Amino acid sequence: MNFSGGIAVKIKALNGFKDIIPGEVELWLKVEQTARNIFNRFNFSEIRMPILEKTDLFSRSIGEATDIVEKEMYTFVDKQITMRPEATASLLRAYIQHGLYVQKPIQRLFTIGPMFRHERPQKGRLRQFHQMDVEVLGSANPRVDTELMAMGAMLLEELGIDVSLELNSLGCPECRPGFRKTLLTFIDDRRDELCDDCKRRSTSNPLRVLDCKNPRCREQVEEAPSILDHLCGSCGEHFSSVQKGLQDINVVYSLNKFMVRGLDYYTRTTFEFITADLGSQAAVGAGGRYDGLVETLGGPKTPGIGFALGMERLVLLLQQKELETESTGCDMFVAGLGEKAIDFAFPLVHALRQMGLQAAMDHEGRSLKSQMKQANKLQSGYVLIVGESELEQGQAVLRNMETQEQQDVKISDATDTFARSLQEKCTLRIS
Ligand code: HAM
Repeated sequence: MNFSGGIAVKIKALNGFKDIIPGEVELWLKVEQTARNIFNRFNFSEIRMPILEKTDLFSRSIGEATDIVEKEMYTFVDKQITMRPEATASLLRAYIQHGLYVQKPIQRLFTIGPMFRHERPQKGRLRQFHQMDVEVLGSANPRVDTELMAMGAMLLEELGIDVSLELNSLGCPECRPGFRKTLLTFIDDRRDELCDDCKRRSTSNPLRVLDCKNPRCREQVEEAPSILDHLCGSCGEHFSSVQKGLQDINVVYSLNKFMVRGLDYYTRTTFEFITADLGSQAAVGAGGRYDGLVETLGGPKTPGIGFALGMERLVLLLQQKELETESTGCDMFVAGLGEKAIDFAFPLVHALRQMGLQAAMDHEGRSLKSQMKQANKLQSGYVLIVGESELEQGQAVLRNMETQEQQDVKISDATDTFARSLQEKCTLRIS
């Protein structure tokens, strides 16, 4: 290490990678706790997977001709391993590897953690971002599709986040090829008007042309045929049941024939929770059914469906609403004035913490004014002021920071006894 002369250049976090610092963490906890509570209500169990997986897992499941696999993955090329860009593939890998289908015919699993995509960073779009991801494996029942969307809607409502639910069906290997052909004919007639990406995609992945964000492409596909008019009998029935289910439990949705999703594994139901408050990064959550994916990854034939919510976007929305974070204020600040008072305060603060209270003190011998400032910053409910001469007389002052009322309190010999007597004098929140 070189400390000689000059100012060291600061090292900053990578572009698109963000620290979550105190003051922000509280909202993250709120989002995560609300989600855990709701996942629990709907009988989901947690699963945690590693961040690194074999590259092949993602190219095989998400699809070679997707933006994610083509250009967004963080891959160690020499080792053929990749930092997961999403959770579904990893979760299914774990489901197959551990034979979770043997334990329960229907598995309801959730996971929360960081994902990595090399996208152009902007508000609500990061290179390391976090998802809360849920998957139901082993049921093709349309009720499950409805239930999952209802769960997402409930979670967003409990967080106070306003979204609209958009719904589509992508059909199955029976009916999609027919639609693909119809769509290709439609696109062929307009190919010259499309952006370069769409020109290239139109043969490998023509459905992606439907959700291109380029305004010119959008205009061109306005009149494109809808896949909903090309569903086979069983996909059509499945989709009607999903919609009826949503209507039965009053979950509001609208159909979006342009929604194709950026991952290739979807079949039948797809959906997105859309906000009007985040500019172009409008999807706070998205998902759908993937009835062939477990088999593609070497597992038994198993239908599945899931969705993921983007935590950065949820937190941004909560911040925008300037939602009052629940005060995690300190219960008691002990302001010791002088060395002896500080020596007295230290075991007292420890005893208060042992009782389950949030307690704090200043170790640096600062003035009363400065300690009161600290107590305010910590949103302390009470401050115990201990001066050296008062201490000798067995006295201290207890100040209620909300009402500004002060009272003299008698200091008892034993710290624990005194700590308990303080607790009785205050209306303290035990955590
Ligand atoms: P996805 O649409 O790629 O789907 O991502 C789901 C959500 O993750 C998005 O709606 C968004 O909120 C968030 N998200 C995605 N990329 C970023 C980013 N770069 N920065 C911030 N947030 C982001 C999936 O990942 C599927 N695995 C969902 C799923 C689960 N389908 C079935 N099961």
